[in-house]
Amino acid sequence: MRLSAGTTTAMLLSQCSRSQPLSSAPVSEPIQFQTYKSKNGLLSLDLEAKAQSVQLGSRTANLLAYNGKVPGPLLEANAGDRVQIRFTNQLNQPTNVHYHGLHIPPTGSGDNVFLEISPGESHTYEYQIPDTHPAGTFWYHPHKHGLVAEQLFAGLAGLFIVRGELDEIPEIKAAKEEFLVLKDFALDSNGNISETGHMTAMTGRAGGLLTASGQINPRMTIQRGGLLRLRLLNASPSRFFRLSLEDHPMHLIATDGGAISSPTELSDVVLAPGERVEVLVQGNQAPNSYRLINQPFNPAQGGMMGGMMSRNQSSDSAETVATLTYEGETDEMPLPSQLIAVEPLPEPQTTRQFTLNHGMGGGGMMGGGGMMGNGMVFMINGKAFDPARVDTQVMLNTVEDWEVTNTGSMVHPFHVHTNKFQIISQGGRPTPYPTWKDVVPVSPRETVRIRMAFRDYVGKTVYHCHVLDHEDRGMMGILEIQQA
Ligand code: C2O
Ligand code: CU
Ligand code: CU
Repeated sequence: MRLSAGTTTAMLLSQCSRSQPLSSAPVSEPIQFQTYKSKNGLLSLDLEAKAQSVQLGSRTANLLAYNGKVPGPLLEANAGDRVQIRFTNQLNQPTNVHYHGLHIPPTGSGDNVFLEISPGESHTYEYQIPDTHPAGTFWYHPHKHGLVAEQLFAGLAGLFIVRGELDEIPEIKAAKEEFLVLKDFALDSNGNISETGHMTAMTGRAGGLLTASGQINPRMTIQRGGLLRLRLLNASPSRFFRLSLEDHPMHLIATDGGAISSPTELSDVVLAPGERVEVLVQGNQAPNSYRLINQPFNPAQGGMMGGMMSRNQSSDSAETVATLTYEGETDEMPLPSQLIAVEPLPEPQTTRQFTLNHGMGGGGMMGGGGMMGNGMVFMINGKAFDPARVDTQVMLNTVEDWEVTNTGSMVHPFHVHTNKFQIISQGGRPTPYPTWKDVVPVSPRETVRIRMAFRDYVGKTVYHCHVLDHEDRGMMGILEIQQA
């Protein structure tokens, strides 16, 4: 498919065929998480990263796990709580833990991605979630530059739920809750993570085994008349998801950074790597089974990349990722009419430009390879990541607009740590309503304008592409927030 300049994600979606074969594994058990909740204002736990054999549907897989679980334990705290995570690295390579989306200090023993925890070593993460922190669906995963895609693909990721104002809205409080961590795996016949081939460098690693919270096609239930609050996280290093639920519209209530102002009906949801949404589903259909369907989504837009991407992800057809069934009955529950107002951020003091692209690395340092091979380097403003260089300096308590332009040939989900942002415009079109985001997909030849206020914390943090092979190959920059 050839695309002209200005083609948007939405336009692409409408070109996708709905008449593809649909593969469904048998419906499996309900979703179960090991959960740690805060008590008396403190969330305290031991967390260990370790190679482990884990059951994925009928397969035994040799993965990397937090506390033996894939996905890792579900952490749950309230705004204002203190967090204390005694982390031990039992891997055979360095790692660390990033708290994706949390507004906490990026330094010290907070959300410090510059920490390197060696094999056998421990580190206690300790921080406070601000009283004013929005309720939402956040997550944790490794962030040791160069190893992020590998460690995440092998299974290291978990949900971090912050409870607050949104959870107190009566209709939402009464809704049943399900947590879907969407993650693909590529396994060989021995259950080991398989080589994803020479395209990995370009498109990022992906596998054909789709899991939802570590299960293949788990069962979710809804009461007839009731509401289901579905929290969706795309924890895949490079696979995009495009989801729809048979006969049930989804009512968006929250994006990456928390609630939106009022529920918005969607027929499907596209999730780039790292993105989250919360949706409400109404149990107002006949009490049958309904499939949550993932349509293939091709992030390599244009030219020959299309076909190669499909083969690499080895999933050309629609697949069932979970199944909704009816169980029980309750008095008809309406959707909430109001959620939490999203106030537009004030006008920016500064506007900056960021250009995303890729190219060949200098010399054989990264190990040869042809055009598609290992020499591929991904860059922001023409530069690959350098831990010793500060790329962007901003002042605390200021507001900035960032214009992020993709001059490459694949979608790059742009992610910023520490402060959430609002999307002002995408491909020249203003966004219809304000949302809080921390990842925004930027399509080829598109410019996305985001607005961000730097609040509460100074120090160094990062922004990067959330296709984690791109991040590991250089598409990351250092942001330093300075005291005014
Ligand atoms: Cu989820 Cu810096 O990333
Ligand atoms: Cu992050
Ligand atoms: Cu990218």
